Amino acid sequence: MSHYQKPPELYGGLRLHQNENTGGCSPRVTEALARLRADQVGFYPPYAAATDAVAMYLGVPPDRVTLTNGLDEGLMALSVAYLRAEIGGPVLEAIVPEPAFEIFRLDTEVAGGKLVQVMPKADFAFPLDEVLAAVTPNTRVVFLTNPNNPTGVSMPLGDIRAVARGVPAGAIVFVDEAYAEFADESFIPELDAFPNVVVGRTFSKAFGLAGLRIGCLVSAPATVDPIRRAVPVYSVSVAAVAAIQAALSDLDHMRGYLRQVTQSKALLYAACDRLGLTYWKSRSNFVLVCAGDRTDALVNGAFARGVYLRDRSTEPGCAGCLRITTGIVDHTRRAIAVMEEVLCAAR
Ligand SMILES: Cc1ncc(COP(=O)(O)O)c(C=O)c1O
Repeated sequence: MSHYQKPPELYGGLRLHQNENTGGCSPRVTEALARLRADQVGFYPPYAAATDAVAMYLGVPPDRVTLTNGLDEGLMALSVAYLRAEIGGPVLEAIVPEPAFEIFRLDTEVAGGKLVQVMPKADFAFPLDEVLAAVTPNTRVVFLTNPNNPTGVSMPLGDIRAVARGVPAGAIVFVDEAYAEFADESFIPELDAFPNVVVGRTFSKAFGLAGLRIGCLVSAPATVDPIRRAVPVYSVSVAAVAAIQAALSDLDHMRGYLRQVTQSKALLYAACDRLGLTYWKSRSNFVLVCAGDRTDALVNGAFARGVYLRDRSTEPGCAGCLRITTGIVDHTRRAIAVMEEVLCAAR
């Protein structure tokens, strides 16, 4: 589903279709929001304290961090900054190893860039040789996601290094780490050695702040400078600024969610084994499941029972696949019960 076809507002059921944290944010966040004063709301937001808190969490100096209104805004700004062609200049290219977060395609198109898709291998292992072969003098962005969405599969950090060495001067490698907390792995410690890499993080997933819209870009200041100019001024709200500081003061809440995710994945794998569904072992808070010709019945049957799963069968390499958020254990149990019911009814 792209942003062209906005999903229905599914607030009534169990939302397991957008990799959100269905347990919600830390209570410290809602307390901080309740404490916001009228004068704070009356002013444009200050960013220094929130930037410092994020920088400390990520282990980088604050001048490496650019806060954005969700990582989505960072992605659009990055695309505009690096893919918009100069008048009379060549069309600039973005390489996207598929299957990928669909926004990479959308942003490339909006920025006027040319999309160069690299098709996946059957096991979704990172296609390093194919990505390097797709690089041209007009390549300006390579969009990588680690661990990947929608597969949940991660790529070796060595492959990121190889891509960063393989792109032309003036190009950047974007490493989307929206799900890094779940994999407990990051390219951020390597940014000093690779100034052409920009890492993207979001607080929508592990921290449960999707509704407040806050993410960030992390990179060498010179690399992020053109991107900063494309980010609208004061795009991160004062509520998000308060929320992120509160969320980062309660890492135990986030770690509790990570433990639920690990348990949920084990439950879902076992259920898939029972139901004869294949899946890819995920390092994220969701699992890509192949139900073959039962996908439609599964997604629609679950929808009718108030459980929303994400049909990914039209994504490259994902025929017959659906994606299921595996977060809060009780929610996963409910999803499994519904899947069992639907598949038994369809027999
Ligand atoms: C890979 C990836 N990047 C970025 C985002 C967007 O994050 P945000 O909510 O911070 O805009 C998502 C959300 O699903 C995602 O899956």
